[in-house]
Amino acid sequence: MKRRGFLKLLLALFGSTTLVSFAYPLIRFLAPPEEKAKAKQIGIKKSEIPSGEAKDIIFNNTPIIIINRQDKGFIALSRVCTHLGCLVEYDKAKKRLLCPCHAGTFDLEGNVISGPPPKPLPKIPLGVEGESVVIG
Ligand code: FES
Repeated sequence: MKRRGFLKLLLALFGSTTLVSFAYPLIRFLAPPEEKAKAKQIGIKKSEIPSGEAKDIIFNNTPIIIINRQDKGFIALSRVCTHLGCLVEYDKAKKRLLCPCHAGTFDLEGNVISGPPPKPLPKIPLGVEGESVVIG
């Protein structure tokens, strides 16, 4: 192989490597893996959350709380406060969700009762199937 041919081959190799190093991340960004894009379902035994109690879990990378309301049954809400994103805590005695950052208060439906949060906590789809609570 002559020197000119070798340099052309080397230039083509570097060019294609550079192109792939820019194109691959762009393609991965535009088309995320299917498993991450799809919402999963999580099943929890009803017995794990007695009446009046709550359970914190992570669902699709979001902290959520499942509450077994004494009169209305199960509900799943995002724990991420709609004000500045702190995590709300369940107050069993007051039957409220309290945000520790700026004293935002939500009822057990996720509606804002007081404080600065501009909107309710998002509800997460939930169904009861036999002895399980299915989230998602
Ligand atoms: S972050 Fe919850 S009230 Fe401000």
